Amino acid sequence: MIGRLNHVAIAVPDLEAASALYRQTLGAEVSQAVDLIEHGVRTVFVDLPNTRIELLEALGDDSPIAAFLARNPAGGVHHICYEVEDIEAARKRLEAQGAKVLGDGQAKIGAHGKPVLFLHPKDFCGTLIEIEEA
Ligand code: CO
Repeated sequence: MIGRLNHVAIAVPDLEAASALYRQTLGAEVSQAVDLIEHGVRTVFVDLPNTRIELLEALGDDSPIAAFLARNPAGGVHHICYEVEDIEAARKRLEAQGAKVLGDGQAKIGAHGKPVLFLHPKDFCGTLIEIEEA
């Protein structure tokens, strides 16, 4: 069901500093920052030849990454995103297998304008998984 790795996301305390680190120290292409208000994060994407890295910082007081950053003040790997062809088919299959879809269980529009959903880390080897229709 899952296809390509779309991105690996790293939560950071300071998006501007992290963007500069990737741009200047690592010599990568870094996008402009985008606020994803519905997800409570501000993000940039680092373009690599074979995948992307999403850098995200908390946006707003009840950001879903605030607790993660409190536990990981220097930042850390937050989630990985796999592509699927059909997000509704993926959601049905995952729920039928007993996986917990986070939030209200419905797909939301993600950073690339495509529907995404998140799966609970306890069901997937301790890793928060994002599924994106691509
Ligand atoms: Co993501």
